Amino acid sequence: MGHIYLTRPLGDVVEQFRQQLPAQLRVHHTSEFPPDRTELLEAVRGAGAIISLVTDRIDAEVLDAAGDQLKVVANVAVGYDNIDLDAAAERNVTVTNTPGVLDDAVADLTLALLLATTRRVAEGDRFIRTGTEWIWSPEGYVGLDVSAGATLGIVGLGRIGMAVAKRAQAFGMNIVATGRRAHDDDARSFGVRPASSMHELLRVADIVSLHCPLTPETKHLIGAEQLASMKPGSYLINTARGPLVDEEALADALDSGHLSGAGLDVHEFEPQTNSRLRTMEQVVMLPHIGSAGDATRNEMAALAFRNTIAVLSGEQPLTPVE
Ligand code: DGY
Repeated sequence: MGHIYLTRPLGDVVEQFRQQLPAQLRVHHTSEFPPDRTELLEAVRGAGAIISLVTDRIDAEVLDAAGDQLKVVANVAVGYDNIDLDAAAERNVTVTNTPGVLDDAVADLTLALLLATTRRVAEGDRFIRTGTEWIWSPEGYVGLDVSAGATLGIVGLGRIGMAVAKRAQAFGMNIVATGRRAHDDDARSFGVRPASSMHELLRVADIVSLHCPLTPETKHLIGAEQLASMKPGSYLINTARGPLVDEEALADALDSGHLSGAGLDVHEFEPQTNSRLRTMEQVVMLPHIGSAGDATRNEMAALAFRNTIAVLSGEQPLTPVE
């Protein structure tokens, strides 16, 4: 059957599952850095399952290095743009992801970034830490009142977008959305109005938040043209995938003052971050921590183990990528 290769130690969850695994588990030695390419190609040799993370590029070369006995790649993430699905399908390898268990965590972080940018939270924090003398001022750090009828544009309303809509409704925001669930009853119950087009959403939203997967079609979904269509003074939030945004075009839009701010949990050339954006006070940047809640990360790992066990036992996985 081959061993199960886990590309990073995942804490206590590993011990919870170790006894139930139908094959020997081999774990990469450190959680700090992923295996480099040479280590990965070597470690997967003879594996029946690979439990991968977003930092692992699982392509034809890796699948071939593993060999014909490889049955499953279980990604510990809802996104799976790090995996070559065609190459996996050609080799009859099942790919699974972890949908559903991280919606709330990512939605929470989206709201955190939304408020941090519009209400200048990070900027204020940085200022305080300088030790500069200050006193309350009527104009000090004034930002956008999201609860005073601001419009949130959700691009790609799926599970996570819906969780964002639920929270935005509680803040009293108007919500407009594109995406597969924009016309659902659930969406309506959270006050979502389906946008007639992406262009309309960009034109009316005070804050645009991205929640779609990264595919060849969505790369640079937000480029110079889309940024120019955005409302003057608006904000962009990205907790989905970095390459959805052309970061140089974003830096231009912020530099010119057309956009007021941006909140980015993910980055176009991750883990590199854009040097222009890094210098801008109106940009909040985080190190891809959307799903980084303790319970959420455990749920993600547990689901990946369950998927692995199912496939290796000849059963249907719980959450296959289809
Ligand atoms: C996901 O699940 O796709 C996240 O980006 C990883 O935390």
